[in-house]
Amino acid sequence: MIVAEELRKRYRGGQGTIALDGFRLDVPGGIVHGLLGPNGAGKTTAVRVLSTLLGFDSGRAEVAGADVVRQPGLVRERIALTGQYAAVDELLSGRQNLVLFGRLHHLRPRDARRRADELLERFGLTDAAGRSAKDYSGGMRRRLDLAASLIRRPQVLFLDEPTTGLDPRSRNQVWDAVRGLVTEGTTVLLTTQYLEEADQLAGRISVVDAGRIVAEGTPDELKSALGADRLEVVIRESDRLGDAAAVVARIAGGRPDTDLDRRAVRVPLMGDRVETLTVTLQALREAGITVANVGIHQPTLDEAFLHLTGRRAAMPADPAPPPAAPPPSSPAASSSAAPARASASSEVTA
Ligand SMILES: Nc1ncnc2c1ncn2[C@@H]1O[C@H](COP(=O)(O)OP(=O)(O)O)[C@@H](O)[C@H]1O
Ligand SMILES: [Mg+2]
Repeated sequence: MIVAEELRKRYRGGQGTIALDGFRLDVPGGIVHGLLGPNGAGKTTAVRVLSTLLGFDSGRAEVAGADVVRQPGLVRERIALTGQYAAVDELLSGRQNLVLFGRLHHLRPRDARRRADELLERFGLTDAAGRSAKDYSGGMRRRLDLAASLIRRPQVLFLDEPTTGLDPRSRNQVWDAVRGLVTEGTTVLLTTQYLEEADQLAGRISVVDAGRIVAEGTPDELKSALGADRLEVVIRESDRLGDAAAVVARIAGGRPDTDLDRRAVRVPLMGDRVETLTVTLQALREAGITVANVGIHQPTLDEAFLHLTGRRAAMPADPAPPPAAPPPSSPAASSSAAPARASASSEVTA
């Protein structure tokens, strides 16, 4: 559905940045494909080239069966693009916005109204259909924007960082909407700098860095390219760390890493995980070593990115700083903030 071969694009002026440097992509139909990379990696440039908005210096690209250079009109008929900034009209209601987009796409008034209602339903906006878009939350606006992109059932939808700047609750709403898109038969190319987002939504991921693809695979393939899951044991007394490492090495095999600050021993986990875990804990107890915590960790996409590019990628950051401890007089504020914070963070520190 999307093919790019050896795309090169240098922006003129300034320092003449090379934004695409041998970029390639091959996306089959009917999936969400993630294009994951840090700020400045070339994601937006790739999307603009593939959606015919921007010329390029060399290479070849085809989208939905049409060549982006020779058949740009055909490509545009078959795609839709949703950028980072909502394109909806603030003064119109959600429904009026969608009817307007339908009319701009030459639907007859009755068909435009019918399609608007279908999409409002689909994106959970029916109850808010009559309210003006300026009163929508960020997540609702972004969903309305997505709905507007789908008026004419595109074969390919480009989503350029659809959740950047959204709070965690709105981000979840958009994620749900994106998950549903594929059931409409749409192929989605989703750019993101959030590892968690690519992991959640994409069936396949291409990791882009400095204008080229540096890795590709399913989220699990990318993680397992980094090696096995790891067993981590945290012990109570740091002066026993060496002893603990020796025990772990004897049972689990492999060379354990130790982390003195965290009093942790970590080792790649091979063979029967439960058996290894059980026997290791038993042996530590027999050696008189107190275990404070134990866990099995799969390498994260963040570790994968670091491994592939030598740099850390952006983490899914809250746009708003963490709220200060709520004053005792505002229980309502603290209860509404809590679930959103909890969904953004997988670890809780005391
Ligand atoms: N219009 C432009 N003129 C000059 N340089 C640009 C322009 N747009 C983007 N760039 C540069 O091209 C590179 C890729 O940018 P972009 O495609 O926007 O990356 P991403 O979307 O992954 O953040 C960056 O180094 C950026 O500074
Ligand atoms: Mg961008």
